[in-house]
Amino acid sequence: MLRLIYTSVQTPGFDRQAFEQLCEQASRNNQRLGITGLLLSNGMEFMQCLEGPKDTVASVYRKILLDSRHSDIRLLVSEDTDCLLFTAWSMMGLGTKPQSVLSGESIAYTLLDHRLYRPWKSLGLGAGDLIYEYAKVKAELEKAGEMGLLSKVFDVF
Ligand SMILES: Cc1cc2nc3c(=O)[nH]c(=O)nc-3n(C[C@H](O)[C@H](O)[C@H](O)COP(=O)(O)O)c2cc1C
Repeated sequence: MLRLIYTSVQTPGFDRQAFEQLCEQASRNNQRLGITGLLLSNGMEFMQCLEGPKDTVASVYRKILLDSRHSDIRLLVSEDTDCLLFTAWSMMGLGTKPQSVLSGESIAYTLLDHRLYRPWKSLGLGAGDLIYEYAKVKAELEKAGEMGLLSKVFDVF
């Protein structure tokens, strides 16, 4: 299996509704393809983790690179793995604190400051490591889902 983690910058005008539509599209396709992952948005940037069969992930990533809804795509992690972080999440969309609240901060810092999990706020993690931290609180997020808080796009700020 292959895991990719990247960040990118949203095209101006990309709004909450567009994010919900994107998560729906991605989730629908990924379910069919056997891909799982997480898509984070702070309203200005994305961070995504894609995992699944190597060739399938690579071909979806090639499509994603060409998508006009974002630019400045930076691949942070590309690794072989036997252990999927986001099993059963065909593409969970998480909306985080808007970047404007923390002017000048990158998505890494914005994402660190959310209401479910804070201990790593001061750990100085690399940007890609954030995804692994979300994987650790997946059970917590799923529990929130059982309580009815988890919709297609789930706000974590
Ligand atoms: C940030 C971002 C993340 C995306 N993630 C996925 C994804 O996980 N799976 C997917 O199939 N398409 C994803 N897409 C959409 C693809 O770029 C592309 O539009 C889509 O795969 C086209 O397939 P379709 O026309 O058959 O729906 C993403 C696009 C963006 C901008």
